[in-house]
Amino acid sequence: MINRPSFINNLDWELLVKKYKSENKLKKVIKKIEKDYPIQYLIGDVEFLNTKIIVNHHVLIPRFETELLVANLIDYIKKYDLSNNPIIDLCTGSGCIAIALKKKFDKSIVYAVDKSYTALHVAKKNAKGNGVKIKYLKKDVLKNLKLDKKFSILVSNPPYVKEGEIVTNNTKYEPQIALYPGKDDILFYKKILELSKKILYKKNIIAFEIGSTQAKDICKYAKKIYNNAIIKVVKDYSGFDRFVFIFNNCE
Ligand SMILES: C[S@@+](CC[C@H](N)C(=O)[O-])C[C@H]1O[C@@H](n2cnc3c(N)ncnc32)[C@H](O)[C@@H]1O
Repeated sequence: MINRPSFINNLDWELLVKKYKSENKLKKVIKKIEKDYPIQYLIGDVEFLNTKIIVNHHVLIPRFETELLVANLIDYIKKYDLSNNPIIDLCTGSGCIAIALKKKFDKSIVYAVDKSYTALHVAKKNAKGNGVKIKYLKKDVLKNLKLDKKFSILVSNPPYVKEGEIVTNNTKYEPQIALYPGKDDILFYKKILELSKKILYKKNIIAFEIGSTQAKDICKYAKKIYNNAIIKVVKDYSGFDRFVFIFNNCE
């Protein structure tokens, strides 16, 4: 059997050997990893807040930062007594956020929206695999989304990478629709904030993952839409502004 290359850690190597078994297949896998193909796609799943999430090239690989978004949001939902209330996850991708929240708050109705049919296919598999019921909708959040329900919690990690921004080499294999919002890098936040006015109850929490330079502009826009809201910017593990939480009538 071939030896583990130094750029693959022990745990990942064990998982790859278990999955691909033959020397020939493993050689092919190593070649792909050398060309920056994400190891998570080759392994086929990742851990997200103790939840197993299947991933393939149709979905963004869930990030540590997004775990922090959800962990913070869980604390706020409990703090403001919204534990059984309806939740909507816009731009759900693999479904990691919606599924982790549904597992935590099993009495909450959870909706999840994405424009990508193939991403939703993965998200549905993930919900089934985790034994939770999520209502999935294939819709474009930029196009006047109409919903039959109101929510208390809105969470979104939309595409936010600025054109020309440096990203890691393996992101070229992730769906570009998941990463790049186009010319106006905060367009999704603006549209989602406008939409939130129509689909949220008066008492609500809005939780966004954001690009590290976008907090000021997003907060400004949020203040315009919700002039009495309490708005918090929270940093990620590296000290970058990474999340915006908006609280309406929570105190
Ligand atoms: C940054 S990924 C987030 C995926 C997942 N929520 C996570 O945190 O790992 C953004 C997602 O937005 C979806 N998306 C892009 N444009 C969209 C649109 N106009 N309407 C709805 N979803 C969209 C992509 O398909 C992708 O799944």
